[in-house]
Amino acid sequence: MRELNVIAIDGPAASGKSTIGRILADELGYLFLDTGCMYRAATLAALQQGVAVTNETAVTTLSHAIEIDIKPPAAEGDGRHYTALLDGQDVTWALRLPEVDTHVSLVSSYAGVRQEMVQRQRRFGLRGKVVMVGRDIGTVVMPDAPLKLYITASAEERARRRWLDRQDQGHSNSFEVILADVQRRDEFDSTRQHSPLHPAPDAIILDTTGRSPQSIINEILALAQAAADLML
Ligand code: DC
Repeated sequence: MRELNVIAIDGPAASGKSTIGRILADELGYLFLDTGCMYRAATLAALQQGVAVTNETAVTTLSHAIEIDIKPPAAEGDGRHYTALLDGQDVTWALRLPEVDTHVSLVSSYAGVRQEMVQRQRRFGLRGKVVMVGRDIGTVVMPDAPLKLYITASAEERARRRWLDRQDQGHSNSFEVILADVQRRDEFDSTRQHSPLHPAPDAIILDTTGRSPQSIINEILALAQAAADLML
């Protein structure tokens, strides 16, 4: 198959887009970039350094100053799919803390934070052969991507998946709390002023409710083949 430089995958929280993006990247031998973890790293940095997440100016300044690196997982064997470094510290699991879940939507709504993260994400995109997953990849970060997917699922299904993940990670939030958080973030992410979550006009929409990751991967591989054929 001819190489696609970027496969852009967007969608709401816990829609399965990261799982699918990761498997797809593995199958194609592409880099996997979960852009949400960059907003999570900025949120974690604010929490760790005592910067109020409501202070847009301070959070924006901080987001420009921090160093974020995403690397393939080393041999930790703890179920991680990549290693995230914040100023050289391994924060892969800290990025999933409930406090980060709670505040990340606000941090990611700040224009200055977004500008900085989008620039950093485009640099990854320029390297080529990357599966990039987020909320605005097809609309803002990589609008020329040859294949754009928008992956979604019902709010209940997404909350159930996140609840199972969080149980595995040892957190004890109830399903109801997680469902409320998923719904709150959907509302916030899709109505925010800067780069609200919505499918690009030319994105292909895939609903994963009740479907296995592999059946979706097979569908995407066929779409990737078709997109590559169009480039010939
Ligand atoms: O995918 P996630 O749950 O890790 O994303 C965390 C937050 O970051 C979420 O509230 C939406 C935001 N985000 C964004 O605004 N743009 C992206 N490209 C990726 C994530």
